[in-house]
Amino acid sequence: MALRLSVIGTGYLGATHAACMAELGFEVIGYDIDETKIAALRAGRVPFYEPDLPELITKHVNSGRLRFTTDLADVAEGADVHFVCVGTPQKPGSYAADLTYVWAAVETLAPLLTGPALIVGKSTVPIGTAGALATRLSELAPEAELAWNPEFLREGYAVDDTLRPERLVIGVRSGNAEKILREVYAPVTDLGIPLLVVDFATAELVKVAANSFLATKISFINAMAEICETTGADVTLLAQALALDTRIGGRFLNAGLGFGGGCLPKDIRAFIARAEELGVDQAVAFLRDVDAINTRRRQRMVDLARELCDGDFTDHHVAVFGAAFKPNSDDVRDSPALDVAQMIHAAGAHVTVYDPEANANAKARFPDLTYASSAVEAATGAHVVLHLTEWREFRDLDPAILNDVVTNRRIVDGRNALDPASWRAAGWTYRALGRP
Ligand code: UDX
Repeated sequence: MALRLSVIGTGYLGATHAACMAELGFEVIGYDIDETKIAALRAGRVPFYEPDLPELITKHVNSGRLRFTTDLADVAEGADVHFVCVGTPQKPGSYAADLTYVWAAVETLAPLLTGPALIVGKSTVPIGTAGALATRLSELAPEAELAWNPEFLREGYAVDDTLRPERLVIGVRSGNAEKILREVYAPVTDLGIPLLVVDFATAELVKVAANSFLATKISFINAMAEICETTGADVTLLAQALALDTRIGGRFLNAGLGFGGGCLPKDIRAFIARAEELGVDQAVAFLRDVDAINTRRRQRMVDLARELCDGDFTDHHVAVFGAAFKPNSDDVRDSPALDVAQMIHAAGAHVTVYDPEANANAKARFPDLTYASSAVEAATGAHVVLHLTEWREFRDLDPAILNDVVTNRRIVDGRNALDPASWRAAGWTYRALGRP
């Protein structure tokens, strides 16, 4: 009989995973405690911006393969394999990850299981969590088993990254768990995508190690940008030259305002916290520098903006293009763009923000900023324009359109994504991070 799947937690990761597993041909139940979220998903509405996902959810709600519930008993009865996709945010006042939701998912589902079942953790957790959860699970549901299957999807490409990932990693303790997960992912591995079978600790570590590496690569090039700023070198040319070395490669080598979002910042901090608990903090001490370099970029942007406001933000208007932590997303968690906007507002400027998708989320988080419904509206009266999230709309913008609405033709490109020549040709002072 075909395996029936459940997905516990229908946030970013869970909603995508549920829809994609239905696309692979499985019968899937998505579960969440949030009634509003479940009602929206049933109607094919996704409470965040993710290309292709609403269509895929609608397709499989209609095909009958995907349904959503707030009843955990329904989940326990209706599925054999349960993917845990709940969040593990940073704990307030600490670097550590908050594991409350992961433990709650396992501890509430397990007592409802009446026969053999596989619980598969996908949430990003500190090393050692899966082992501890497995012990608890064996007490609560002796016939159930645990596996760990980290998720590497990027926001904005979530559907494609789930259906055609670069690799699958499964942490298992038995041949049975491996067999079940190989069956689930057969449509993916049939495409030639590698599946690595590892122990729990390695599965947990792959995820944090991957995100730490990516964060390090970004902070490396941003550290070079700092050197460029004092020497007159150009970090974008430097990155191009480095990228031609195939051992280095060009991806994640875009210098600018640095990384944000719900994963990279929190994951490296949780890794630092866990390494301290394990007594191996020296091994990841460099991640503190990675974090510090990243944070310094935001301050540098504020300083550059102040310089272009003639040294004082008072009575100056600053236009901020972008609020999401990266383009093609409406996610503003730890967004560098919003952080900068808020700092400049706190320093006394009038800040007007425009983002093609993230205005509503940004407003909910920072209601004191002013929000505009277009780039032109945001730039009207501005003494300086800051380009902080590289949406295509901004890259394609003809500078001449803003020429007559701004007070000063001054722009700082925080993502090194605009064409300096065309801005300068239109009469603008163009500044950027890490280049003259
Ligand atoms: C990341 C990982 O890529 C993904 O594998 C993991 O599962 C979750 O975390 P995501 O948070 O969606 O995904 O964003 P990503 O595309 O990795 O970008 C992270 C941040 O780095 C963004 O703020 C982006 O603007 C910044 N970035 C990225 C740079 O500053 N420079 C770059 O060269 C690349």
